[in-house]
Amino acid sequence: MTETVLLVGGGGREHAIARAVADDCALYACASNRNPGIARLAERVETIGETDVDDIVAYADEVGATLAVVGPESALEAGVADALDDAGVYTFGPRQEDARIETDKAYQRRFMQENDVPGCPAFEVFDDVEAACDYIDAFDGDLAVKPAGLTGGKGVKVIGDQVDEAGAKAYLREEAYDRVVLEERLVGEEFTVQAFVANGDVRVTPAVQDHKRAYEGDEGPNTGGMGSYSDASLDLPFMTEGDYAAAVEVIEAVVDALPDYKGVLYGQFMLTTEGPKVVEFNARFGDPEAMNTLPVLRTPFLDVLTAARDGEPLPELHFDEQATVCKYAVPDGYPTDPVAGAKITVDEESVGNALLFYASVDAREDGIYTTTSRSFAVVGLGDTIEKAEAVADGALAAAGEGLRVRHDIGKHDLVRRRIDHMNELRGE
Ligand code: AMP
Ligand code: GLY
Repeated sequence: MTETVLLVGGGGREHAIARAVADDCALYACASNRNPGIARLAERVETIGETDVDDIVAYADEVGATLAVVGPESALEAGVADALDDAGVYTFGPRQEDARIETDKAYQRRFMQENDVPGCPAFEVFDDVEAACDYIDAFDGDLAVKPAGLTGGKGVKVIGDQVDEAGAKAYLREEAYDRVVLEERLVGEEFTVQAFVANGDVRVTPAVQDHKRAYEGDEGPNTGGMGSYSDASLDLPFMTEGDYAAAVEVIEAVVDALPDYKGVLYGQFMLTTEGPKVVEFNARFGDPEAMNTLPVLRTPFLDVLTAARDGEPLPELHFDEQATVCKYAVPDGYPTDPVAGAKITVDEESVGNALLFYASVDAREDGIYTTTSRSFAVVGLGDTIEKAEAVADGALAAAGEGLRVRHDIGKHDLVRRRIDHMNELRGE
């Protein structure tokens, strides 16, 4: 039987998901924007908002979807997976309740504490801004200040890094969030491990390092992620195999405590001198990380989806032993004042051997327009990170006027700095 897969979401992550399944199924997609990459791979794309639960269910019913994959967290938070499941369309993505591991950072920390999930930093939850400010005054050391709800990865302020104590308090008072988490500032190098989860099974994928800061040299505000790299092995150059294994144990401990969890479970870790600590969990693929992972996944992703649905053991995963480097082109002014609605040209010819993933752009009759989010990404593959980087960087000529990139991601110097940083922290 040919599966009919509904894909929810229209970013770079979803273009990577579309590419991973399109040859093996009939693909239908919906998102608030019209992603030209997904449009090319799908039988049909519909403009439906990612949180428009009823319209998504009606579309799934109309096309006869036999499976669904949800890309963005906003859809999971809105209960899209619950509604599709309840309508008889198995959805690879957690139900609203389980997605709280991402959508509510206060819940997430308490969950870790109550279930003895390793790697939890010291934290306190506040529902009163002034009490949080008092805590900042009294605390001896640096804290990370986190709004409890979803902020597209842009809400966290780290004292001693992006802000000082006065700046953190001013930020809290200005934004007046209902609930904030204050937690111990973790120092080290960040990495991501994504796992496919269903029926209690966990299948892990290679570690990836994302680059949150907007500008080269890790300067500027946090973004959704400017680019990322993975190595030809499961770990990264600044990690040991033991560090990777410790991260996997954390993910397995989460799944033990959430036996009905299904979909991607994404662990964001800080590799500290005491091993990996949890920065956060996401209930979905990372964006950009999906663009590193899915192109090297040799096991058909559709086989993972059907096994999950049919209650079978998830297949063992095989990966091409290739490093990957992903770099995003973003609208000028992103993330603080992105120039949306600008017409851009993407010169597909100049992408060469790299993969091109369209992201939050809108394809209209007369061309491609920016939105407030990231526009497209290129991914280079190679035997080493350096070779993959050269392929990705060469492809960035495709980014014409009105777009900005971080050339430094995956370059030898930056990767070397990560290794030196960890060595220095470890006193080596
Ligand atoms: P999050 O939205 O929780 O992923 O946080 C966004 C970014 O803030 C992370 O990728 C980290 O760079 C930083 N961050 C979050 N929590 C901490 C922490 N406890 N210590 C240091 N940095 C953090
Ligand atoms: N790259 C970070 C995220 O997807 O949340």
